[in-house]
Parts: sequence; structure tokens; C-alpha cells
Amino acid sequence: MKVGFIGTGSMGSTLIEALIRSGALEPRQIIASNRTSDKVEQLAAIHPGLIVSRSNAETAQHSQIVFLCVKPLEFKHVIDEIKTVVHPDLIVVSITSPVLIKHLESRLNCKVAKIIPSITNYVWSGASLCMYGKKIKTEDRLLLEQLMMSISSPQQVSEQFTRISSDLSSCGPAFVAFFLQKWVQAAVSETGIDEKEAARLACEMVLGTGKLLTEGGLTLEQLQQRVAVPGGITAEALRLLDRELAGVFHQLIQVTHAKYEEDLQKVHAQFNDE
Ligand SMILES: NC(=O)c1ccc[n+]([C@@H]2O[C@H](COP(=O)([O-])OP(=O)(O)OC[C@H]3O[C@@H](n4cnc5c(N)ncnc54)[C@H](OP(=O)(O)O)[C@@H]3O)[C@@H](O)[C@H]2O)c1
Repeated sequence: MKVGFIGTGSMGSTLIEALIRSGALEPRQIIASNRTSDKVEQLAAIHPGLIVSRSNAETAQHSQIVFLCVKPLEFKHVIDEIKTVVHPDLIVVSITSPVLIKHLESRLNCKVAKIIPSITNYVWSGASLCMYGKKIKTEDRLLLEQLMMSISSPQQVSEQFTRISSDLSSCGPAFVAFFLQKWVQAAVSETGIDEKEAARLACEMVLGTGKLLTEGGLTLEQLQQRVAVPGGITAEALRLLDRELAGVFHQLIQVTHAKYEEDLQKVHAQFNDE
């Protein structure tokens, strides 16, 4: 099986690296093209055997599955380049939320899926959000989920909830890192603790918390109850967070959804949608 990647920027190269390191794909099974070909050549230098393709059409033509890893407003251009070479058995996978399955199905005579990865997939963790078009058969779904299972926990979601699911799964790592960075900076300025030491403690804590909430079987509520004994220090701090952060998460969701709507309108306009 050959798997194609169109766009080898941050997420395209993350997926390629993770799939090779997990053993799910050998470099010779990967064919990739990027607007700036240097990026693919660098990947091929690290992973001998990876096929550097000179055009997006060539990538699609030689693949059984092709991941489109470009930004939303670059999709239309890429689709125009590949539409004449796609064949009915090809599975085209979009990894971006504002390009809808119907956009791709209206332009491409092939099978279509949407799989939103997360940077956490680089270390074979986190979810990948899977949505399928009309032509995807059970065996196609199994093939895609088997591939994604090697680097993530594939979760089927409704396209209606793509944005909020992506907020939690794909934007979440940046939000959590931001929260920790602010906390570490405050720890340094309030107490004088060494910054690297504080950051290491915070990062180990996140890793352990993630394990408790997944394989450890604790719910978010149970975990707080286990740590915050009545009358204790944690309980006092949780009350502060509850008070000060009221409304912040609603605003966060409103901001991501407003930007999503903006992107969606631009993509609609490009695809001449109704
Ligand atoms: N980053 C994440 O954590 C994340 C998570 C989930 C989903 N995504 C989605 O992944 C997509 C890509 O994001 P990214 O962070 O990887 O962006 P990025 O780093 O900017 O990568 C985009 C790549 O696409 C290439 N490109 C642009 N137009 C092209 C064309 N016509 N043909 C071939 N290659 C082309 C660019 O090439 P140049 O080198 O010439 O610029 C660049 O390498 C976005 O739609 C985003 O929503 C990202």
C-alpha cells in the first residue's frame, strides 16, 4: 500500500514521522509532495526510501490513501490539481476542519474522509477525529482506523461537532502548554524556584494526570475530589480558579467558533457553495 501526503509542513511531517516510527508504514510506502520541495527532500534524507513526488497530481495518482495536509484556503488549489487523476478507489483524507466532506465530494470522483489529527499523535497519544463520506465502505474505514490506531486513539465524531472536538483534541495541547507556561512564570516570580525545575515538575504532572484520567479510570470530578481534601490547600486554590475563570471557557469556545465560521465562509466562497 502507498500512502500519499500533500503538504509536509508541521502536521504533514508530524504524521509521516509518527507513522514511520510506529512501524505502521515503511518509508518506501510513503509518497509526498510539498509546494516548497526542500521540505520533502529533508524528510527523504532522514527516511531513505520515502518517495519525493514532483507534483500533487503524481502523489495522488500513485497512492491508495492520500492525506491533504495544507491549510483550508489552499485546498481548492490542490483539489483542482488532483481532480483529473483521482480514481474511484482512492481515499482522499482532509485533515482540516473548515473544509467540509461535501466540498471534497462535490469535486472529487473518489472516496472521501476527514481525519483531524493532533500534535499528540507524534508521541502515539491523543485522539484522531474521524468522519466519513458517502462512498467510504466498512473496509475503507477499518483501513484508515487501523493506520491511525498505530499513532492515536481514533474517535468517530459527527461533522457537526468537528470544531469543538478539534478545540479539545488538536488545539488543547497548545492551551494546556499556555496554562502551564503562565503557571511556571508565576512560580518563578513569586518564589524564585528555578524555571527549568518548575517546568519539569509541571510537565511530569500533566503526563501523570493524563494517565489517571485515561487508563487510571478516574473522572475529572473524581480526580479533583481525590486531591482536594475538605479544608485543604488544593480546595482553597480550586475555589479561586472557579471564581476567576468563570466565563473564560465559554469565551474560548466562542472565539474558536467565530474564526472557524470565518474560514468556513471563505472556503464556501472558493468552492462556490450555496
Ligand atoms: N498543526 C496542528 O497541530 C494541526 C492539527 C490538526 C489539523 N491541522 C491542520 O493541518 C493543516 C496544515 O497545518 P500545518 O500546521 O501543517 O500548516 P503548515 O505548517 O503551514 O503546513 C502547510 C504545508 O502545506 C504546503 N502547501 C501549501 N500549498 C501547497 C500546495 N498547493 N501543494 C503542496 N503543498 C502545499 C506548505 O508548503 P510551503 O513550505 O511552501 O509553505 C506547507 O508545508 C491545516 O489545515 C490545519 O488545520 C493542524
